[in-house]
Amino acid sequence: MNKTALVAFTLLFAVIVSGRSAPRAEELTQNDWLLRAENDEARFRLLQKQMRGFDQPMWEVGERFARLHDALKHENYELAVYHWDKIKTSIENGVAKRPARGESARNLFLGDPWNEVRAGLISADRKRAWDSFDKARAACQSCHQAEKVGFMNQQAVFDLARPER
Ligand code: HEC
Repeated sequence: MNKTALVAFTLLFAVIVSGRSAPRAEELTQNDWLLRAENDEARFRLLQKQMRGFDQPMWEVGERFARLHDALKHENYELAVYHWDKIKTSIENGVAKRPARGESARNLFLGDPWNEVRAGLISADRKRAWDSFDKARAACQSCHQAEKVGFMNQQAVFDLARPER
């Protein structure tokens, strides 16, 4: 290899290596909260913390339960089923993060109770659908008791009931 070729080769190599190197710390801003972490383990820890535990899915579940009540008042059974399905997804995702809640969730909610409520909602029969709402509320509340957060049962979302007539 002559001298010119050697220089060209070295330069090419330097370009490739510098192009592949990780972004340098000074190029990151303070908003790069994940990129700035020391390594992937530290990044996963930060993500785990941000994704919270059981409280955040429950917050969504409470909200959707109120929307479900609203859907029944409008006799919009498709929307009621939609929220019921999303409630299941939320609780399953919550259990993925907090497996210790899984046993109660499966025994008191995700199995037969969930299926029975869904059948009542999808029937689009007004009375059956409101019976399902009562059944749903009871399933939610039994899990709160089992998980020793019975105080959750005294809040506005659980005052929601079927209309007088
Ligand atoms: C696994 C059993 C379980 C089931 C089933 C369950 N919950 Fe919960 N719920 C909990 C636990 C545990 C908490 C407290 C979470 C925490 O401490 O992080 C909670 C908290 C809540 C909260 C308070 C959330 C907040 O932070 O504001 C609401 C609202 C709620 N649940 C509504 C419901 C409704 C409505 C249903 C039924 C559709 C339901 N839950 C079903 C276990 C359950």
